Amino acid sequence: MSRTPTDATGPGRKLGEPTPPELLDAGERMTPEELGAHQLVRLRSTLRHAYEHVELYRRKFDAAGVGPEDCRTLADLAKFPFTTKADFRDAYPFGMFAVPMSEVRRLHASSGTTGRPTVVGYTERDLSLWADLVARSIRAAGGRPGHKVHIAYGYGLFTGGLGAHYGAERLGCTVIPASGGMTARQVQLIQDFRPEIIMVTPSYLLTLLDEFERQGIDPRGTSLRIGIFGAEPWTEEMRREIEQRMDIHAVDIYGLSEALGPGVAQECVDTKDGLHLWEDHFLPEIVDPFTDRVLADGTGGELVLTSLTKEALPVIRYRTRDLTRLLPGTARPAFRRIEKITARCDDMIILRGVNVFPSQIEEIALRTPGVAPHFQLRLSRRGRLDHMTVRVEARPDTGPDRRAEAAREIGQGIKDGVGVTVEVEVVDPETLERSVGKIRRVVDQRER
Ligand code: DLL
Repeated sequence: MSRTPTDATGPGRKLGEPTPPELLDAGERMTPEELGAHQLVRLRSTLRHAYEHVELYRRKFDAAGVGPEDCRTLADLAKFPFTTKADFRDAYPFGMFAVPMSEVRRLHASSGTTGRPTVVGYTERDLSLWADLVARSIRAAGGRPGHKVHIAYGYGLFTGGLGAHYGAERLGCTVIPASGGMTARQVQLIQDFRPEIIMVTPSYLLTLLDEFERQGIDPRGTSLRIGIFGAEPWTEEMRREIEQRMDIHAVDIYGLSEALGPGVAQECVDTKDGLHLWEDHFLPEIVDPFTDRVLADGTGGELVLTSLTKEALPVIRYRTRDLTRLLPGTARPAFRRIEKITARCDDMIILRGVNVFPSQIEEIALRTPGVAPHFQLRLSRRGRLDHMTVRVEARPDTGPDRRAEAAREIGQGIKDGVGVTVEVEVVDPETLERSVGKIRRVVDQRER
């Protein structure tokens, strides 16, 4: 970082430094033994709450021949059945709720790609817990009371906007509730209100960056010092691109509606080494997505989450479909980390027998000089074979020769790194669809 901006909490402290111990909350200060004891009490009470108040859990536990009393250690959780997105769909809209509707203070929903949305609910205490965890997350990202936080996650049924909002307020920040869209105005607001922090999807941040440049404003010269990016996968290459173009710290925030929303796990700004999962409120497991077997820490697989303190919507062994692995804690030693999530089970494209993830293409494209970080994958059928065209935008100053070379380099990189032959088109700047929230990378034109 070429600049070391001053922290609002006091003289001498720089953003990007570790959180001083006196600012940590009680949960973050727990020893592993204390944490384990809390988790077991909370897990047993959650299992009981779910079994007693949600018919789906009662049916599933009964069918598996287990009851809440069978959980005597944390490892006993593995005896209990999984919960999936399909369970939420079947229970649409409120069948997963464990409290009477009169106690539900807020609803959110995530629009699935097909069919019914997933509906989630929160009691007053759930909302307060959520604000606490997002506040903890923003603090781990380097945010402090007194900072201004520009929130460009969408407000509405999506959990991003309001989740970030109440967390930033809880920390004592000043919130700028920009929501998504009206990109030119967002740039104006950032120039005029001078926030230190932005919370936004990484793909919409790229849209904002282009708008800064279009307006002739150097994005490295803004007041922003920290970006808290999540809601979609992004790679280390994308972090480098953003940090260089904006001169900010780019850190990762993770969450999902079924578990809570943003604030399930957060990367600490001082280490930027994956996301500490707030294990005092969520118990993580990694399972093999094909065999369902629980895997040891350090092994890659699907993240499965169990809530430990939620009232309205307890989730037991929820299959997130997100691929990662569990690593020991660093900046918050009490909690394990999840490795940056760059893929979901559902993202996987099987191209002529080879597994391809969009993030692999992102990594390769962003390493290639002359192209912009905007890309799209088009799937089509050529004869009986699937065909993928990678469309990447040229940077404005890239000439035709360099474009042709870049296309060749990306194609070769994908062949060497992923093991599959694709067509690469380096297209004109500003031709690919821009994100205002979560980006859609894959356009599937194959006939079903
Ligand atoms: O995206 C919650 C959120 C809002 C998280 C704002 C972070 C910031 P859903 O719409 O339910 O909730 O989508 C959840 O998004 O299962 C992941 O596949 C993906 N996702 C969320 N955060 C990350 C991240 C919100 N940091 C789904 N890295 C999850 C990679 C992420 N993927």
